[in-house]
Amino acid sequence: MSNIDYNEIENLPKLAKSDFESAVTADDLAKLKTKYFGDNSVLVMSSKAIGGLSVEEKPKAGKVLGAARAAINELFDAATEAVKINEEALQYATEFEDMTTPVEFLKQKYNVTPIDFDGAVHPINGIINEIQTFFRNVGWTIGDGPEVEATEFNFDKLNFGKDHPARQMQDTFYIEKSSGTNPTDQKIPDQKIDENQTDVNEKLVMRTHTSPVQARALKTHGVPLYIAVPGKVYRTDELDATHTPVFHQCEGLAIDKDLTMADLKGVLELFAKAMFGEDAKTRLRPSYFPFTEPSAELDVWYPNKKGGAGWIEWGGCGMVNENVLTNCGVDPKEYRGFAFGVGIERTLILRHNINDMHDIVEGDVRFSNQLGLGVL
Ligand code: DAH
Repeated sequence: MSNIDYNEIENLPKLAKSDFESAVTADDLAKLKTKYFGDNSVLVMSSKAIGGLSVEEKPKAGKVLGAARAAINELFDAATEAVKINEEALQYATEFEDMTTPVEFLKQKYNVTPIDFDGAVHPINGIINEIQTFFRNVGWTIGDGPEVEATEFNFDKLNFGKDHPARQMQDTFYIEKSSGTNPTDQKIPDQKIDENQTDVNEKLVMRTHTSPVQARALKTHGVPLYIAVPGKVYRTDELDATHTPVFHQCEGLAIDKDLTMADLKGVLELFAKAMFGEDAKTRLRPSYFPFTEPSAELDVWYPNKKGGAGWIEWGGCGMVNENVLTNCGVDPKEYRGFAFGVGIERTLILRHNINDMHDIVEGDVRFSNQLGLGVL
């Protein structure tokens, strides 16, 4: 009597098929693998039993067993593939991250104060943004200009006499042009001045004010022109509580056919209110600048001034000197206009009662956050 149940073996693939089809996880598969291919499986037990069969029966049993094993292997491979796809789908479904969910801020996670983690807009940049918004809102252009500037633009075109004290070394950072042969020579920074606009043999300086952009803007844009230019300026001052060698100004220039000092006053009044609040007002005191005639100091009445409301000096202004217009190719008989320059650090110091310039220069994020400029 044969130890092999041919019926069972022939039915095995059918049974395996329905078992395999119900497998969902790799765990299910592992169990079925043991059931169909393990030591006690019908396939393995039957293989072992073949040894005890008669020579005549062996080939037949081998054939039936081989066919069943091949069919079950194939079914198992298919089931393995199906389970893999199923498990991946499950993984995608359970590990799905909704990228639109609002993030939990670090400070909440770690229970630390915002200043330890958050960045901040530098207060100077905050004010520059406000200035740009104001001038855009009144229809002006926002301009830019090089910080490494030709003396021609920083001084000459602005009607500074050759012996004007501001040209002296103690105020102005002069830049030496490199011959390129001495490795210790300072190379001129990449921010190149426009060589079409200047004599290449001119001396270069770090601009001492934003006023040279008046000449550049007139050359580039022509007239009429309404332009505001906030930017960095440089002077040979030591850093202390009230001075810094690198600071910021905002230049304003308006050139048109009928502009008067009343227009200048009107713009400054609005500008001051935008910076210092509705109750601020402006006054002009006679002064002198080479590039304006008449010239004035600009004061602001600031109600929230530390120690009580009062007048404070904010900048300079005036009607553009005819020589400047002529130097920039504008006919002063047809066009005229006004200009002004205010200090941006000064604006910040007055507005927020800041008493140490180091706080502005150092860029400590805690300082910026105190002015409400933290980034969350
Ligand atoms: N450039 C001057 C300074 O740095 C400020 C200034 C005064 C600018 C009068 C002007 C102006 O445009 O009209 O001190």
